[in-house]
Order: sequence, then C-alpha cells, then structure tokens
Amino acid sequence: MADAFNLRIRPLTAAFGAEIEGIDTGSDLALETVQAIRAAWLRFGVLVFGGQTLDPAGHVAFTRRFGEPAVYTRTENACTGQPDVLVLSNVVIDGKPIGAATSGPYWHTDGHFLQCPPAGTLLYGKEVPPEGGDTCFVDMRAAYRALPVQLRTEINGSTFLMDRVQTLPFHYPERPVPPPAQKHRWPAMPQPVVRTHPETWANALYIGGIVPWRIAGLEPHRSDALMAQLHAIAFDEQRFGYRHRWRADDLLMWDNRSVVHRATAYDMARYRRLMCRTTIAGDLPSYALGKIDAAIDS
Ligand code: SIN
Repeated sequence: MADAFNLRIRPLTAAFGAEIEGIDTGSDLALETVQAIRAAWLRFGVLVFGGQTLDPAGHVAFTRRFGEPAVYTRTENACTGQPDVLVLSNVVIDGKPIGAATSGPYWHTDGHFLQCPPAGTLLYGKEVPPEGGDTCFVDMRAAYRALPVQLRTEINGSTFLMDRVQTLPFHYPERPVPPPAQKHRWPAMPQPVVRTHPETWANALYIGGIVPWRIAGLEPHRSDALMAQLHAIAFDEQRFGYRHRWRADDLLMWDNRSVVHRATAYDMARYRRLMCRTTIAGDLPSYALGKIDAAIDS
C-alpha cells in the first residue's frame, strides 16, 4: 500500500500546479496519502501524476476517494460499462467515433452552467499526440489577487447569468444552434463573479469563456467594459498560467473552483488522442469575503 511518506510534491510554477511523484493512483492508498493528495489539490489547483496505469474502473475508484463522481454532459460518449467516465477522443473504430472529438478550446471551468458545478476533474491521457493537444490552465485565485483593490470591491458579491444556450454558439460555432427547447434543460444560472472556495476560503474569479456575460445590476456598457477588463487581466497565461504538455499515461486532477482550463488544437487527421475524464460532484458556488483576501485587503 502506498503511503504518504512515498509521496513527493514538485511545484510546476512559482504560483500553482504540482507534479505528485511516488504514487500509483490505481493502487490501494492509505488514508493519509489520500489526505495529502487532497491537501495538495486544494493548494496547487492542478496536480499531475505521471506514468499511471489506470483502467476505467481504477479511474473511477481513484475519483471516489475525493467525492462522488458527477456525470452531467455528453452521456452518449460515456465509456462502455463505466458511465462515470467520459471519453474524449478522435479515434474512430468501424466507422463509429469512440468519444467526443472536441474538448473545450476556450477558457472554462467545468459545468459552469449547472447549479452545483463539479468541484474537480480528473483527465487521464491514454494516447496523446506528439505535438499539440496540450491542456492549459490559469490560476483564477492569482488573477483575482492581481486585480486593483477598487475593481475587486466593485465585483465582490456580484453575479452574472451563465446561459449555456447563449454560450454554445460562441464556443462551438461549428455545432447546430441549440433549439429554444434546450432552455428548459439548461436554464440560465446565476453565478458569482468572485467565488469563495468552500474548503480553503480563498477567493477566485469565477468567469470563463469569451461570452460578454451581463453582470446583474449594471448598465450594459459598464458590464461589458468590466467583463472585458476581467478577461484581459485573468486570461494572461504568462502571468498566471501553466501549460501541460501531455505524456502518455499522465493523470491530471484539477480544482474547478480555483482554475480555468482550455484544450489546444492538434492535427486530428495525423494523430490519435484518447482521454478519459471523470468529474467530482461539487456544491453551490457562493461569495463570502475570503479570510485570505480579507487579510490582504485590510
Ligand atoms: C476538458 O476541457 O475537460 C478537457 C481538456 C482537454 O481535452 O485537454
């Protein structure tokens, strides 16, 4: 049984992201090992476990150590026999795609349009292209802390309406426009612009995408200007980013409450990419002046 003494944590950037070494995520893990991984996940936002051998059942078992698996999208692309695992792949067998060919190419946090979006995501790279197909992350806690105090004060406690029906044509212009009936399935969801992490109390910007979300209570011109300003500051990969260049058998685990991510393109005609994804159930996003940020602001 792997114990916490074998575990080594190697930070990937000065601010966030860490590689966890000395762990076989498919093995029986001691409670203190799981607690150490959980603490690292909360602190670093993105964890990388290299050289894993996970079958779909093992992937789900590892996910369960951190919460209930949550299935909320593209169920038609679930792994056969493991409905908790979503297959993201361009591989076609006997004329039939084995998974969803495209992943989110724009900055997003998973399930943003849900009332209770998933707390975390675990993505396992079974086959990865030799170039392209990277997954990029931005630390939204650092982006929040970098905002001028006056701007933070203006957005703290405000909400915007996350409308998936409005979002889809922006993010997936190649897909058919969702019919109005979809509005019943995906009602517009109020989300806090600044989200307080329910476990660490850190505040993070909780925006994503390129959609000009309307901030409740603001005139359209002010809301648009504010969103554009927040996007420009937050989605700065040089300052707040980590780009993951996949190696086969990497497992990534990220905290959707702290980071946003996006997938980059690759040559789908030349290379295969086969990823398995699970998500961990989360809770209702809310804002409460975080203890950490209260200390910074005082
Ligand atoms: C995702 O957006 O959840 C997957 C990202 C990727 O395929 O790189």
